[in-house]
Amino acid sequence: MADIEIRAVRKSYGKNPILHGIDLAFASGEFVVILGPSGCGKSTLLRMIAGLEEITGGEIAINRRVVNRLEPRERGCAMVFQNYALYPHMTVAGNIGYALKVAGVPKAERLRRIEETAKIVGLFDYLDRKPAALSGGQRQRVAMARAIIREPSVFLFDEPLSNLDAKLRVTMRAEIRKLHQRLSATSVFVTHDQVEAMTLADKLVVMNKGVVEQVGQPLDIYHRPASIFVASFIGAPAMNLFDADIDLDGACLAFAGAKLLIDRALAAQLGAGTVTVGIRPEQCIVAPDAKGGVAMKVDFVEELGSGRVIHLELNGHPFAACVDEQTRVRPGDWISLVMPLAQLHVFDQKTGRRIEVDLDPRAVRGPAGQPALVTV
Ligand SMILES: Nc1ncnc2c1ncn2[C@@H]1O[C@H](COP(=O)(O)OP(=O)(O)OP(=O)(O)O)[C@@H](O)[C@H]1O
Ligand SMILES: [Mg+2]
Repeated sequence: MADIEIRAVRKSYGKNPILHGIDLAFASGEFVVILGPSGCGKSTLLRMIAGLEEITGGEIAINRRVVNRLEPRERGCAMVFQNYALYPHMTVAGNIGYALKVAGVPKAERLRRIEETAKIVGLFDYLDRKPAALSGGQRQRVAMARAIIREPSVFLFDEPLSNLDAKLRVTMRAEIRKLHQRLSATSVFVTHDQVEAMTLADKLVVMNKGVVEQVGQPLDIYHRPASIFVASFIGAPAMNLFDADIDLDGACLAFAGAKLLIDRALAAQLGAGTVTVGIRPEQCIVAPDAKGGVAMKVDFVEELGSGRVIHLELNGHPFAACVDEQTRVRPGDWISLVMPLAQLHVFDQKTGRRIEVDLDPRAVRGPAGQPALVTV
C-alpha cells in the first residue's frame, strides 16, 4: 500500500509544454481513474509516476518519499500497458514469472508464485501456452498477472482494456475492480472512456489540455461538474448546453429565439449578461403536448432497448432527452420539453467554470407542478 502525492508537476517535450502544473493526492488503497480526451497528457503523467518519463518541474512522492530521481524499479510500481507488451517467444508461465527470474528468485519459489498468481487471474490451465494462442482477454490477464506477481504497492494501468471488444471490456472491468478489492494496492487507471471511469473510480480525475479540471467521487462530478468541459465530457448522451442571455426585467433566459422563464431571485443571482446553461438529457421531462414546457420538434429517435433518446430541435439548436419505452414519438412530432430548474447547471461563459446558484423553491412551476423552465 502506498499513497502518492503529485505537487506542481510540469512536463515539456523540448519547448512544448504538455502538463501545466498538476497537484493531486491519492490515498493508500484508493482506485484512482484519470479521464480525459486523447492527447491531454494522461499517459505522460502515469509514466512520470512510474519513472519512465523525466519530470520537468515539481515533485512526485510515493509513501512520502520523493521519487523524482529514483529508477522505475525502485519505486514499487507495476504498470499494465494498452498493448500488453508480452514476450511472444515465452509461455504464459515464462511471461508471468519473468520479473522474478530477473530478480534471482529461486526456481521452486518462482513456480509456486507463478501458479498462485495464475489462479488469481484464471489462467492456471494456460501456463504452457504462448501468447499467440491466447484470446485478447487472456493476454490482458497475463499482463495483469505479470504486474501482480511483483506485489507492487502501486498499480498503474494505461488504457488496459481499449483493445478488447465491448463485452470483454465490461467483464475485465469487473475483474480489475474485484482484484483491486482483494489486493488493495493503490491503483491509478488511465482511460478516455467515461463509462469505464465512472464505474471503476473511487476518485476520478478529469484532465483536459494538460490541466486537472476536476477531482472528486464519480457521482459528485456527475451531479456538480465544475466546468463546461467536465459537463460535456461526463455523461452519455452528453449534457445539453446552450448559451442564454439573462433578461433581468422579465426574469427570463433568452435562448434560440425562445424566452424561458426563471424566477426573479435566480435572475438576480446571475446578473445581466450571457451564461452557459446545461441540463442532462436524463433529467428532461417530455410532455405529450406543447403546453407548459418548451415546444421542440423531434428530429430523430435512437432506440436503446431499455429506453430511447429523443433528438430534438429548437430553432436549429439540437437538444436530447431520454424517455422510457412507453413514450412513443416520431420524427416531425412536436413535444413539450420540461427542464426542471433544480437540474440546471449554470456556467460562466468566459471562464467556463460553474456558477453556484440557489434556487427558490417557489420558482416558476412546470406542468407537473415542479419548478421548471417554461417558455414565456
Ligand atoms: N516523446 C514525446 N515527444 C514529444 N511529444 C510527446 C511525446 N510523448 C507525448 N507527446 C505529446 O504530449 C501530449 C500528451 O500525450 P499523452 O500520450 O500523455 O496523451 P494521452 O492523454 O495519453 O492521450 P491518448 O488518450 O491518446 O493516449 C500529446 O500532445 C503528445 O503528442
Ligand atoms: Mg495515452
